[in-house]
Amino acid sequence: MSRVAVLGGGAWGSVLAAIAARHGHDVALCEIDHALALALERERANKRSVPGFQLPAEVAVFSGNDRRAAVADCEMVVVAVPSGDVASTMRTVAAERAGAAPPIVVCASKGLEPERGSTMAEVIGRSWPGARVVMLSGPSFAAEIARGLPAALVAASTDAAAAAVVQACFGGDRLRIYTSSDVTGVCVGGALKNVIAIAVGCCDGFGFGDNARAALITRGLAEMGRLAERMGGQALTLAGLAGLGDLVLTCTGDLSRNRQVGLALARGEALADTIERLGHVAEGVMTAHIARDLAERLGVDMPITCEVAAVLHDGKPPRAAVSDLLARDIGAER
Ligand SMILES: NC(=O)c1ccc[n+]([C@@H]2O[C@H](COP(=O)([O-])OP(=O)(O)OC[C@H]3O[C@@H](n4cnc5c(N)ncnc54)[C@H](O)[C@@H]3O)[C@@H](O)[C@H]2O)c1
Repeated sequence: MSRVAVLGGGAWGSVLAAIAARHGHDVALCEIDHALALALERERANKRSVPGFQLPAEVAVFSGNDRRAAVADCEMVVVAVPSGDVASTMRTVAAERAGAAPPIVVCASKGLEPERGSTMAEVIGRSWPGARVVMLSGPSFAAEIARGLPAALVAASTDAAAAAVVQACFGGDRLRIYTSSDVTGVCVGGALKNVIAIAVGCCDGFGFGDNARAALITRGLAEMGRLAERMGGQALTLAGLAGLGDLVLTCTGDLSRNRQVGLALARGEALADTIERLGHVAEGVMTAHIARDLAERLGVDMPITCEVAAVLHDGKPPRAAVSDLLARDIGAER
């Protein structure tokens, strides 16, 4: 048994905290939003994010920034906050732990860092020198995992022993966790699938049919693979759980907030209204913008990502983005 601190009591953080507690670990769940923390502590529920979910009584809930005791001597820190908050959260927690041995840091957040387009693993490595970073990714709607439905994830780290600890902490007969050493490939897959899901939601919203959806997913996967390789990952990883697996889930599952953003765009809804209505982070919105800059800087051809960014951030009409994608020069499939 080990001490685990989970940062972020939203959908994914609360479910991961529950799994670790059921596996016998001593778990603290730290949520910055006081009202949500109070509901988690008193009602043992997360009605907004995961209806019907029950937080085990053994999980201790910490509210606001009052997490010092929780993180002081834990062996594992799980970060499940929106990707834009990962760097600041890690820096603060690392400072609070100054002097203690760096723990295993499990990153469940999916996105890219806004300034440089760094992966979440790079962000954590910079913010918390010495931390043994493990990316936990793959197709995982928190609501389904909370119900104990079968699923498979990947724990990626250059530290094989740390990946094995994470596999044992969260894995079981219903939640199969594979390991990988391709941290970059897993990070890029988890971040970029959200952008492609916005495109697919829009395509479905326009009623373009099953063929178009399959084509968009496949061409989306191709550009995700190109970016991953250019950043030092392996294209084959993108054919795995953190790439194709999560891409298919996010593009086709109506629980996906990113797909919902695309469907709303097709209805002509303003982005700000959609984000407010969803009430949760839709990571693909920020990631589209960051990935477009990154693609331009690295010279990677990412037409779908660039069109999604143009629609979300430059006010390009979605139908014009579709026309431009369909009018591109055509050549060999790669
Ligand atoms: N929801 C899912 O099914 C799911 C599955 C896999 C991965 N993810 C990824 O996990 C991340 C979180 O997603 P989510 O769905 O749980 O989002 P969410 O919006 O439901 O929850 C995030 C929570 O983090 C809290 N928070 C922000 N900064 C904090 C800090 N410094 N300390 C403590 N709490 C803090 C917020 O108040 C919020 O409650 C995202 O990157 C998402 O892509 C989500």
